[in-house]
Amino acid sequence: MCGIFAYLNYNVPRSRKHILDTLVKGLQRLEYRGYDSAGVAVDGGNDKNWDNNSKVIQLIKKRGKVKALQDEIYKQDLLDFDIEFETHVGIAHTRWATHGEPNAVNSHPQRSDKNNEFVVIHNGIITNYKDLKKFLESKGYEFESETDTETIPKLLKYMYDNRESNEISLSTLVERVTQQLEGAFALVFKSVHFPGQVVGTRRGGPLLIGVQSKHKLSTDHIPVLYRCGKEKKAVSTLPRVDGDTCLYPIGEETGVEYYFASDASAIIEHTNRVIFLEDDDVAAVVDGRLSIHRIKRTAGDDPARAIQTLQMELQQIMKGSYSSFMQKEIFEQPESVVNTMRGRVNFDDFTVLLGGLKDHIREIRRCRRLIVIGCGTSYHAGVATRQILEELTELPVMVELSSDFLDRNTPVFRDDVCFFISQSGETADTLMALHYCKERGALTVGVTNTVGSSISRETDCGIHINAGPEVGVASTKAYTSQFVALVMFSLMMCDDRLSMQKRRQEIISALRTLPDLIKEVLALDDQINSLAHELYQQRSLLVMGRGFNYATCMEGALKIKEITYMHSEGILAGELKHGPLALVDKLMPVIMIIMKDPTHTKCQNALQQVVARKGRPILICEKNDDESKLLAYRTIELPHTVDCLQGVLTVIPLQLLSYHLAVLRGFDVDFPRNLAKSVTVE
Ligand code: M6R
Repeated sequence: MCGIFAYLNYNVPRSRKHILDTLVKGLQRLEYRGYDSAGVAVDGGNDKNWDNNSKVIQLIKKRGKVKALQDEIYKQDLLDFDIEFETHVGIAHTRWATHGEPNAVNSHPQRSDKNNEFVVIHNGIITNYKDLKKFLESKGYEFESETDTETIPKLLKYMYDNRESNEISLSTLVERVTQQLEGAFALVFKSVHFPGQVVGTRRGGPLLIGVQSKHKLSTDHIPVLYRCGKEKKAVSTLPRVDGDTCLYPIGEETGVEYYFASDASAIIEHTNRVIFLEDDDVAAVVDGRLSIHRIKRTAGDDPARAIQTLQMELQQIMKGSYSSFMQKEIFEQPESVVNTMRGRVNFDDFTVLLGGLKDHIREIRRCRRLIVIGCGTSYHAGVATRQILEELTELPVMVELSSDFLDRNTPVFRDDVCFFISQSGETADTLMALHYCKERGALTVGVTNTVGSSISRETDCGIHINAGPEVGVASTKAYTSQFVALVMFSLMMCDDRLSMQKRRQEIISALRTLPDLIKEVLALDDQINSLAHELYQQRSLLVMGRGFNYATCMEGALKIKEITYMHSEGILAGELKHGPLALVDKLMPVIMIIMKDPTHTKCQNALQQVVARKGRPILICEKNDDESKLLAYRTIELPHTVDCLQGVLTVIPLQLLSYHLAVLRGFDVDFPRNLAKSVTVE
């Protein structure tokens, strides 16, 4: 929904320009999470004496993308960009509006008061903000924005103004504030009263901390500190930040830099050493030392947070020679599906082993029902693989949109196995559906692309799809990898069934050739570009198919609406006569997917009906399907693969088509209006 980024340099001299550039770069990496406005908060004075500088916080905020903020920053004639800071905290935010229109006042950092005593960046939603606002207004605090977030720094200031002792720490104040908040959040705070300190916390929103130091660090596991004794005990009973309870660099010059971010793509160019925070962790850096507190201990809590080493490379998240991330990600699919299968599929002995499931596979085989849950493209991956899941597992399979699944209070039982499909692993509706299923005792399985994401951590077991970072808001390579991961799961489920061996071998052989077939389809790019030139001024595009390819129709239509802003609908060909046929006339472009699978004849009937209404069918079909080609206005010919994997191939022309249509219509392919990559609010 929004992207948060903070940078703290302790005993590492940095110019203000370096600090601001680091903040802006961090935001650019997170821009896919939201991009309607952005802002930063840095120490504001121009005095050579750092103590004086840190008593003023300078806020710079701007409507629009991060580039607009960057231009605004360097317009500031109040700031000396060359001034150097031994120690400094800067916080930054890119927003996707939920409360209040995108403008400078509503963008983050939000502040406690006109003097910017406390500033905060927030990802998520505070659901009880109206009550908090009423309370704070009754105490004389004045609000300036329409955001839910503004209640947070104001509440912090209220706690500070009413503190019982001058010894109170920023992290204690933050703990107290978060106890009053309802909803989902990741937050990072900065304050003039606590110079050189930063505090971050999360509940339902992602937050991680990168650490960079030339010096050896004191520990690789930070023990988590708990409030001692009864919950209401005085602050002084909190364990102190010292000794081995926190992370700090060892050496004579103990320079260290910390990066707080919504995800790893924003920090990987600085460090690969990362700590993923858990819900209700309050992480504070004081005098260059990082400690993590929790308000209370709950059963099953991990008593320490490990410093993990990320394997991600910067070039994995750069655009390279492509004009957009989406285009790059479409063309990465031959490799990304290989990465999904790597080390898991043995093409010689036709076995599939998903390490993340192996301890649970017997339990899964005994279940009564599989429920596959996701939103948008991730939901479509469930629809695309439902048929093969049903066939190979011989279990009833329900595929559910997370929001609708929750709205219906769908009955879930202990002997159900629930799959949560999510590229980001942070989608709020899917995460809530996961909590719902856990409460009912079902076994939960995550299928995500993001290591350390909430869904991957909170599920009982899972499959990491290994597609590599997906930056374009329109999901492409994650879809084909989710698809392949679910097919692999269905193969693993039936590896002991003699009657299934022939079918398993057919599918595993097809998985082996899949990357080359994807390359063949990608080679049709020029042809698809020329089709886009014919279609880009149309208002509407219908996409029709059935069976294994119905999901492609829905996914193709979603891609088209999402980035081209044209109307598009995925239609089940079997439903044509029940309504959609009325839309067909000589002006309406209809894309039809007809593959040589058991639905071939029925799809041809649909094609006849479209032709009879003078429709202009654009056919996505197999190379040797001369019969269907005869009736087509245009054709895109694809190689053949096994029926249950055809959807991986048929979706690619539609990904490419939507990309070319968006470019021709002059839209920003990676940042479609009103959308965000990671939807962390309901
Ligand atoms: O991160 P998730 O896979 O959970 O995201 C779910 C949807 O928001 C996402 O697939 C969305 O539909 C895509 N932008 C579509 O391209």
